[in-house]
Amino acid sequence: MRNRTLAIIKPDAVSKNVIGEIVSMITQAGFKISGMKLIKISRQQAGVFYEIHKDRPFYEELLDYMSSGPIVPIAIEKENAVEDYRKLIGATDPQKAAEGTVRKLYGQSLAFNAVHGSDSDENAAIETAFFFSHSELVDNIR
Ligand code: CMP
Repeated sequence: MRNRTLAIIKPDAVSKNVIGEIVSMITQAGFKISGMKLIKISRQQAGVFYEIHKDRPFYEELLDYMSSGPIVPIAIEKENAVEDYRKLIGATDPQKAAEGTVRKLYGQSLAFNAVHGSDSDENAAIETAFFFSHSELVDNIR
């Protein structure tokens, strides 16, 4: 089934100037873009987005990082989007990510890992709605 997931190019990758390279990997893998923007979020907004991790030891560092510079949220669509995008980006820790994956190529550490991807269809819908209103999304799903 064709569905949607949320990708985010994180501040470390934006500052490395590899937005184009990562978007190209996403589209080459067969995803259609239905929404994309370059924005900076506040620490408080980052806290809401990552609330699921609020009890984890890395939470404060994660909020500092995600609010440290511009990010690029991208709503993308494809058959099996959540799983296929997670394969494209590789393991959370770039050192453990497979060769050729986005995190292997552009991530620098477990914390600064270049990109985010939703982990389920349910979270993809919640996370996409966090960054995009309904009218900001092009519907490629037919
Ligand atoms: P992401 O896929 O966006 O989901 C949560 C983020 O928290 C993760 O990518 C990393 O940026 C960060 N993260 C996950 N685990 C750790 C960890 N053990 N130490 C530091 N940061 C982490």
